[in-house]
Amino acid sequence: MAEMQYFEGEKLAFMKNDSHFRKRLSIARMLLYCVFITSEAVRSASFSMTPKNDDNEVALRSPLSQLSRRQILASPFAIGGAIAYGKSLSDVAKKISRGDLEYPPAHEKRVESTIANAMVAAVPSFLSEKNTNRPFRVLEIGIGDNCRVSRRGLYDEAFEELSKRGVSNIALTGLDIVVPKSNVMAQAENRLNKNSSGKQMKVNFDVLEGSIESKSTFSNGWFDCVVCALTLCSVDNQVAALEEVKRVLRPNGGTFGFVEHVAVNIEEPYRILNLQQQVFDPLQQVVAHNCHLHRYTGDNILKVFSIQKEEDYALSSRLSYERFLVDDMWPVS
Ligand SMILES: C[S@@+](CC[C@H](N)C(=O)[O-])C[C@H]1O[C@@H](n2cnc3c(N)ncnc32)[C@H](O)[C@@H]1O
Repeated sequence: MAEMQYFEGEKLAFMKNDSHFRKRLSIARMLLYCVFITSEAVRSASFSMTPKNDDNEVALRSPLSQLSRRQILASPFAIGGAIAYGKSLSDVAKKISRGDLEYPPAHEKRVESTIANAMVAAVPSFLSEKNTNRPFRVLEIGIGDNCRVSRRGLYDEAFEELSKRGVSNIALTGLDIVVPKSNVMAQAENRLNKNSSGKQMKVNFDVLEGSIESKSTFSNGWFDCVVCALTLCSVDNQVAALEEVKRVLRPNGGTFGFVEHVAVNIEEPYRILNLQQQVFDPLQQVVAHNCHLHRYTGDNILKVFSIQKEEDYALSSRLSYERFLVDDMWPVS
């Protein structure tokens, strides 16, 4: 599950749209569910003991004899699920080691359109400033050591829209605790400028090493737009990170766009997904840059940006808030 949202600085209003909220179980989820069934069966069998004689001695019974018929029937599926899960883990590990991890198109589309929406929404107040000679400033937090968003061309839509609105000079700053290698940065910069070259757009790209959880050297309100993809799930302290985002964002008309893993809400009908998120959360943290699957990111954003209730953000169509499932995200969306 991921969540898309962007805010207009201090003008805090956004529109909720659940139209893309789909209820579909992917094959991977069903397989994972089978793993749960088996692990539950084995767990209950392993710890089951029964009285053996009058002295109340106990003996372990064979785990298999403790399985219910349903559990035995589920076992082949569970073993298949475990194998499939292991294979998917090793595939991802291989891709990560080759540096070419690709996410599902549905996710990438979300990232591209979220970034475009957020940047476009910040343009009017940028253009109304007296000093329009300065570049339109964008901060991407948690840019990643392979600069995925820029290298995959996920700024294309934003640049195209900005160009139509007369913005031709952009300063894109990446911030991460792990900086990309210089050849990766060069590829990212080439990709960013390749997109913009036909549109007389100039993109200055730079990456700084640092944490969004601590106060950066940027002055208050420096950026017109802050964006991130799958970063708030990885920071240690979300509230500290969001406070810094809010500080560096231009108070009048600055925007924040993000696409993040979020925890299933209690009122949502995704109990299996909720269980998966909680079970796989520790593993995900180890294999995927401290990524937490089960965080109430939306709530933290509402808190930091002081949005109290739904009516507060049902006021404007310029700002949007959306929750959606991406079926093919690994291991759970
Ligand atoms: C799962 S990766 C996502 C990378 C990239 N945004 C993408 O979509 O491919 C999370 C990134 O957040 C970075 N990160 C974690 N904590 C951070 C922090 N406090 N400040 C800045 N970046 C951070 C990690 O180093 C990592 O590059």
